[in-house]
Amino acid sequence: MDTGSIKILVLVIFTLATLSISLSTNGSSSNIGCIESERQALLVFKQHLLDPANRLASWAPHEDCCRWWVGVVCHDVSGHVLELHLQNPPAYERSRLGGKINHSLLNLTHLSYLDLSHNYFGGIPIPHFFGSMVTLRHLNLSRAGFGGLIPHQLGNLSHMHYLNLAGDDYYKESPQQYVENLGWLAGMSQLKYLDMSNVDLNKALDWLQTVNMLPSLKELYLSHCHLPPQHSTLLSRNNLSALTLLVSLDLSFNHFGGPIPDGLQNLTSLRHLDLSHNYFNSSIPDWLYGFSPLEFLNLGSNHLQGQISSVIGNMTSAISLDLSLNNELEGGIPKSLGNLCNLKSVSLGGVKLSQNISDILHLLSFGCISHGLESLGLRDSQLFGPITGHIGYLKSLRKLDLSYNSIVGSIPESLGELFMLRVLYVQDNKLEGNLLESIGQLANLEEVFFSNNLLNGVISETHFENLTKLKTFSGSRNSFNLKVHPTWIPPFQVEILALGSWHLGPQIPPWLHSQKQLLSLDISNSGISDSIPSWFWNMSSQFGYLDASHNQIYGEIPYIPVQPFVSFDFSSNSFNGSLPRISSNLGSLDLSNNSLSGSLSSFLCHRMKGTMSLQYLILSGNFLISGELPHSLQNCTQLVILDMGENDLNGHIPTWLGSSFQDLEILNVRSNEFHGQIPNELCALASLRILDLSQNNLSGFLPKCIHNFSVMATPDDDGHPSHFLMEDDNHIFDVFSDYGSYVMKGNLLNYSTTLRLVRIIDLSNNNLSGEITEGVVNLQYLVSLNLSHNHLSGRIPKGIGAMNSLEALDFSQNQLSGSIPQSISNLTFLSYLNLSNNDLIGKIPSSTQISGFPASSFTGNQLCGPPLTQNCSAATGEINPSMRNEDKRDEVDWFYVAMGTGFGTGFGAFLVSLMVSRRWSRIYFGFLDRMWTRILLLYAKATRFHAV
Ligand SMILES: *[C@@H]1O[C@H](CO)[C@@H](O)[C@H](O)[C@H]1NC(C)=O
Ligand SMILES: *[C@@H]1O[C@H](CO)[C@@H](O)[C@H](O)[C@H]1NC(C)=O
Ligand SMILES: *[C@@H]1O[C@H](CO)[C@@H](O)[C@H](O)[C@H]1NC(C)=O
Ligand SMILES: *[C@@H]1O[C@H](CO)[C@@H](O)[C@H](O)[C@H]1NC(C)=O
Ligand SMILES: *[C@@H]1O[C@H](CO)[C@@H](O)[C@H](O)[C@H]1NC(C)=O
Repeated sequence: MDTGSIKILVLVIFTLATLSISLSTNGSSSNIGCIESERQALLVFKQHLLDPANRLASWAPHEDCCRWWVGVVCHDVSGHVLELHLQNPPAYERSRLGGKINHSLLNLTHLSYLDLSHNYFGGIPIPHFFGSMVTLRHLNLSRAGFGGLIPHQLGNLSHMHYLNLAGDDYYKESPQQYVENLGWLAGMSQLKYLDMSNVDLNKALDWLQTVNMLPSLKELYLSHCHLPPQHSTLLSRNNLSALTLLVSLDLSFNHFGGPIPDGLQNLTSLRHLDLSHNYFNSSIPDWLYGFSPLEFLNLGSNHLQGQISSVIGNMTSAISLDLSLNNELEGGIPKSLGNLCNLKSVSLGGVKLSQNISDILHLLSFGCISHGLESLGLRDSQLFGPITGHIGYLKSLRKLDLSYNSIVGSIPESLGELFMLRVLYVQDNKLEGNLLESIGQLANLEEVFFSNNLLNGVISETHFENLTKLKTFSGSRNSFNLKVHPTWIPPFQVEILALGSWHLGPQIPPWLHSQKQLLSLDISNSGISDSIPSWFWNMSSQFGYLDASHNQIYGEIPYIPVQPFVSFDFSSNSFNGSLPRISSNLGSLDLSNNSLSGSLSSFLCHRMKGTMSLQYLILSGNFLISGELPHSLQNCTQLVILDMGENDLNGHIPTWLGSSFQDLEILNVRSNEFHGQIPNELCALASLRILDLSQNNLSGFLPKCIHNFSVMATPDDDGHPSHFLMEDDNHIFDVFSDYGSYVMKGNLLNYSTTLRLVRIIDLSNNNLSGEITEGVVNLQYLVSLNLSHNHLSGRIPKGIGAMNSLEALDFSQNQLSGSIPQSISNLTFLSYLNLSNNDLIGKIPSSTQISGFPASSFTGNQLCGPPLTQNCSAATGEINPSMRNEDKRDEVDWFYVAMGTGFGTGFGAFLVSLMVSRRWSRIYFGFLDRMWTRILLLYAKATRFHAV
């Protein structure tokens, strides 16, 4: 959902909640009071509930429960309690009811409607006794924190029309509900509406058989139910014809595979079909397009193949069509799509259309689709060519997404005629000229994303004069020069503002002071050379995200403000002084490449009550000193990145590092003055992807347990690039992608499709001795291994060929002896190899791969054969010692070597790679989820909605 729709949703829900409350308080105007036994039952029920926000304050013992009690609806004449509306407004966590549900509810003998949705009952199972409330017709227990087995006794509720048991998918820690079977559902023969989304139905082999016994069913929602792959064949074989009334079917987010089940054809009333987020892998069958009553079809995020057939023009009832994220679907949009006069929303993002955008605009603007089309999603669809003036025909367009394509040229003026446009995404293309001149007239524009293009020009106040509704303005990485009067007060109040790499400086723009709703700000690389004024510090306490990196901002950083789950990036500036105070709910802090000094000991983690939220701590490239790493760091248990590289830290590598950080993925202390051994305890960091201890004074042996770095030995699930994951949360993604691609110096586009996740060990330039432990060869997904410039001896591990993900390997400048193992020629991805300056002897294993490396990869040994000129038959003589290359000139900056190999290393690569991997994205976007909660809460507050 975009911000707009979330807001509308919140608004609607709050309005409904208020409405239902007012109905229930005023609706029963007759003088028949509440029945005493029912009032007592409700009071007992209330007594067992937890009600932190006192929502049930109106349930006072001596008041008429029918007239005054919030959420209670009685029968006008008999006074029996008929309905209980106790749902919580979603996302307003503080007012959730919890505790126990007392069986006194059974005394409400006429209750037909019970809604407890969106509360939080802490994982308790749905009480069995609900199955005895036989008068119920409407039961909504959705997203209310119930867990465990759903009681089969519910099957006794034979009058049930509406049953919603959907679990909560929003919070990772939300309890999971499951069933052993669904046979009991058959007792609800009048059921019209059934939602069991997010309930584990994996064991319910009878689910289809059972729903087929519910002849009145009109809506069925089984999204995210762990329904297994083989069940899709059931859909084909089984007789679904009993469900002739079914209007809505949602089977999204399951594990269905194979072809789209043709049994669906028999659901003759179907208008709304959602099969998205499964593994269907056929082509899209023509019968589906010919299935004329369908209004809403979502086949997004599957593995569908083939082309989009021109029979799509038969979907004459279609209102919304989503085929996005099927990246084996290819070919262009057929002309016939233009004939679908009812179509309002088309989503083909991530489909390989390989089409000229001007052709698409042409076919859309001449068909009758042009009148009604409100949303067009063509993100990452391999579009090219220019946007033509035809765009001006799409007069109803509210949302246009053309991001992540190769669209060129300037923006036509007719774009300015799209008066309805609220959301525009054109980031990551090759657009030129001054976009703002076209969009300056779009008075309804709320969100616009155009970062990472070739746009340029001078922007002044007048460009913004009509953009009064802007909430998101994201234009980083273009070459705009913003020239406004110092006293300018913009006509908008934005929430997300990204102006990275615009020319804004030298001052921090004073007009930012007027932006009272700013949650996210990117002013990186914008020529600011200023100290931070106090008003900016004050306002930054409202930020969820701030990137002011790559400027010349100077002065001290007094403190980092205290809002929950914030991310602050002040890297690559000229800040000095000591480390700032931070609060326990900071999520991410990057202060790298400044001139901060002093010790770590007073910093962080130790004065706090409870745990720290800090996940990313990046302090590399400063002048920090200390003894050992401070113990207080142990309380930052959620660290994912600990980067202290390039400082003046010393002491031992503490053993507790290994036990404190279960989620640590990056540990970088390169280029400090740590000494002593590498503790074996480090091997407990099972999540570690990047271990960089290089350029210290570490001595002793390599840890024998090195094979325990299990992430380095296991593959990732392959995932879509993250902008797929963030399909609907474009704005947030964009803000964060600014971050990643910035570090990649604008190369995001080049790398994002080929990137694999990096896993790196760099222990080079220390005093390590002993043998290279054979266990290292188990790290099969390690991409880069650097042990150079140590005193390692013994042989190169024989099984090294097993490390077949290696792209870079450096053992140079050690005392390794023996011959090079033959298996090294199995390292087919290897593009950097350095074994020079050891005591290796014998013939270099021959393979085209190996002999393709330069001679310098092998010099300073007693090796022979290609690529060296030494001929092996003659290789008995001494190698001239002068060939030993002790010269540091030869030293490669390891962090950048791999850039050329197509994966890139260092922090930039990590950021980009996290955009590619699902697992990393989960971590990252988990963080964003919480940010969203916050944004929602802020919104709720801002609009002064109260739960009751
Ligand atoms: C509910 O009804 C039963 C039997 O009618 C009675 O014994 C019990 O006290 C009632 N409970 C409440 C809380 O009113
Ligand atoms: C299901 O639909 C197919 C094709 O329309 C038809 O041949 C078949 O008889 C139908 N099955 C039932 C049980 O109605
Ligand atoms: C599509 O519509 C055309 C024209 O009405 C019709 O001849 C054809 O059979 C339809 N195709 C399908 C698969 O329904
Ligand atoms: C703002 O709107 C007015 C009235 O529609 C129009 O005349 C003016 O050109 C617009 N400004 C910009 C910058 O487009
Ligand atoms: C961690 O936090 C706890 C309480 O919040 C505190 O008592 C303890 O001293 C801290 N540990 C360190 C090593 O600072």
